Amino acid sequence: MRDVAVVGVGMTEFGELWSESLRTIWTKAATAALADAGLDSVDLITVGCMSPGLFVGQEHLASLLADELGMAGVAATRVESACASGGLAVRAGFAEIAAGLADTVLVTGVEKMTDVDGADATYALGSAADQEWEGFHGITFPGLYAMLARAHMARYGTTREQMAAVAVKNHANGLLNPHAQYHLKVTAKDVLESTLVADPLRLLDCSPVTDGAAAVVLTTVERARELAAGRPVVTITGSGLATDTITLANREELSELRAVRLAAERAYRMAGRRPEQLHVVEVHDCFTIAEIMATEAIGLFDPGFGGSAAADGLTALGGKIPVNTSGGLKSKGHPVGATGVAQVVELVNQLRGEAGQRQVEGAAIGLAQNMGGSGGSSVVHILEVVR
Ligand code: COA
Repeated sequence: MRDVAVVGVGMTEFGELWSESLRTIWTKAATAALADAGLDSVDLITVGCMSPGLFVGQEHLASLLADELGMAGVAATRVESACASGGLAVRAGFAEIAAGLADTVLVTGVEKMTDVDGADATYALGSAADQEWEGFHGITFPGLYAMLARAHMARYGTTREQMAAVAVKNHANGLLNPHAQYHLKVTAKDVLESTLVADPLRLLDCSPVTDGAAAVVLTTVERARELAAGRPVVTITGSGLATDTITLANREELSELRAVRLAAERAYRMAGRRPEQLHVVEVHDCFTIAEIMATEAIGLFDPGFGGSAAADGLTALGGKIPVNTSGGLKSKGHPVGATGVAQVVELVNQLRGEAGQRQVEGAAIGLAQNMGGSGGSSVVHILEVVR
């Protein structure tokens, strides 16, 4: 297997980008990443996108977008794993370079979610749940995560205040990220008194509906050294992918995200790393309870201690292990297909020492965890600065 490095990153602002189309935001992110890498051609393009058919009526994205970039003829493929589509696009690009099938890959993620109304967006997102056993009975994603929250609260005593602490932290981090959808300071009181969405989750426990695109350019470590021009070379040392039952009713345990644990174990094994060695982490906080459960599943905290860790400031900037320095899905926004790629953009910025006001001093090893649906799939990557 060849060693793989990230040589370029780019992303659009995340938010309600009503004057833009899916192809224009994608092209902005792609050209920014290529410019950052100093490349104008690649061997392969991967596109992570969950549901362009339902959100904008467009399928056949890989060819469409390659053409939009002026690269018709290049190999291109779209991958889908619901909200983990972006992470899966990273893994697909990683695998091609590691296997020697390609030398340079433009990995992209995109979703244009605000061209439909809220009900249609909820329907499109709901297609990631099991339609026969969940969707047709009326459950939505806030409802599914509310059930996970209730199970975690019942088993471990996790509190509403601990969940609110996640939102407060991530909105504070989002204030420092110019690409974030919300530049909004929120207090625990704001979260606890915000509109009830699906008991116990309130508006400020939820990630929003977002437009956005993100891109990274991958190549071999040898080529990355040539392109580095004095900047640190960031390599992907671990990649883990796992599934769980989509239907919550089929899970033996609802207070654990098993796919996340399995994907993380596989990534740690490949990288030869342990959770205690990480300096910065991006997790899939589509709801505040998801961040608490994800930090437990990737081994940062013992089961049941993710909530108190957030409330005690361990995951804040300057804390023991900063989580979601980008603002996370909660504040940065969650254009579902783009999220997994944007997490890697944040880690590369951190590991290069280019994260500005939200820089974690000395960050050299980071982990990104992306998740599909209510934990039916997960992708984990470990990134490190090459010394
Ligand atoms: N966090 C903070 N503010 C939010 C928000 C969020 N998640 N969602 C909406 N808002 C704000 C809007 O900016 C708007 O503010 P304004 O009145 O100052 O302009 C206000 O709340 C109302 O926005 P609106 O778009 O009408 O909200 P909504 O009620 O239609 O949608 C949710 C709110 C929570 C239902 C929606 O954001 C949602 O479905 N989130 C979950 C997305 C999801 O499931 N993703 C997949 C996860 S697996």
